[in-house]
Amino acid sequence: MEDNDLKNLPGVGPATANKLKNSGFTTPEAISVTPPKEISEKTGIGFNTVLNIVKAAREKLGVDFITAEDLWKKRQDMLRCSIGSNNLNELMGGGIETQAMTELVGEYGVGKTQICLSLCVRVQLQTEEGGLDGTAVYIDTEGTFIPERVYQIAESLGLDPHKTLGNIFLARAYNTSHQELLTDHLYKFCPENNVKLVVVDSMIGHFRGEYVGRENLSERQQKLNSQLHKLLRLTEAYNLSVVITNQVQANPTAFFGDPNRPAGGNVMAHASTHRVYLRKGGKGTRIATVIDSPYLPEEKVRFKITEKGVEDAEED
Ligand code: GTP
Ligand code: MG
Repeated sequence: MEDNDLKNLPGVGPATANKLKNSGFTTPEAISVTPPKEISEKTGIGFNTVLNIVKAAREKLGVDFITAEDLWKKRQDMLRCSIGSNNLNELMGGGIETQAMTELVGEYGVGKTQICLSLCVRVQLQTEEGGLDGTAVYIDTEGTFIPERVYQIAESLGLDPHKTLGNIFLARAYNTSHQELLTDHLYKFCPENNVKLVVVDSMIGHFRGEYVGRENLSERQQKLNSQLHKLLRLTEAYNLSVVITNQVQANPTAFFGDPNRPAGGNVMAHASTHRVYLRKGGKGTRIATVIDSPYLPEEKVRFKITEKGVEDAEED
């Protein structure tokens, strides 16, 4: 969008524009995808006024009705970031997509964080080299972001490690409400800093820790759902990729097969566009399967974690 100034929206004067900006709604894109009730609560602007502002933002962006042809065109803008392993790229239809949220799910030590770190480096490559020519945001809920590892991956790819580290914006989230605040801030931060990848590692950790017991489950799921949808809307508003990680929990009803299932229930299952299940294979390899995707086939590929990040592994 060329003209990003909120003051040019009909009915938005300088004072209202300031209230919107101070609450993180700095662009018509952010306003058009956020529920009006939420905008009203955060900015203190009356609900009916907000409805008019949202309507104006949507009209300006032309997001009410579009033809299927327009949607087709929008999806031609979709970009794919190389993961490092050709096998994984093929599994994902060419790489991690923009305008989509990809969930990496699997047991501890399987390589979720390693894939995320590798993506933070590769997203910075030019598009011809498989990158998105952008920067990365890493929301770290568990304190597992390791700069030395990013340094190593960048160096082994022949990149300037210091420049690479300088293009990754880190935020340590200390609890679910802090995580939400950071998510809200992304609507302002991403367009200002050419962010093309947002990682939330792990998406669910704090939710599982804070909302213990069945009596708190519905509140937990509601809050989780709201954060997930904010992230999903972000991918569309700014043509970027969101990658979230998720853990597995024991499935007491499994009699045979894999005794684990992704945490987060239906809310998690339905929010991500693509869900990739990771498990350990023989000889230090890892196996990835797409388990829930609107168009990717449910294939199985093998990769391994190396100094370059992630690379292909041979079949046994
Ligand atoms: P949790 O966050 O605990 O759920 O696990 P995770 O899925 O995020 O696992 P993570 O990505 O941290 O993977 C850890 C594994 O990656 C280790 O067991 C190592 O096998 C491997 N690994 C980590 N660093 C390196 C490295 O520098 N070189 C190589 N070759 N492998 C590494
Ligand atoms: Mg991890």
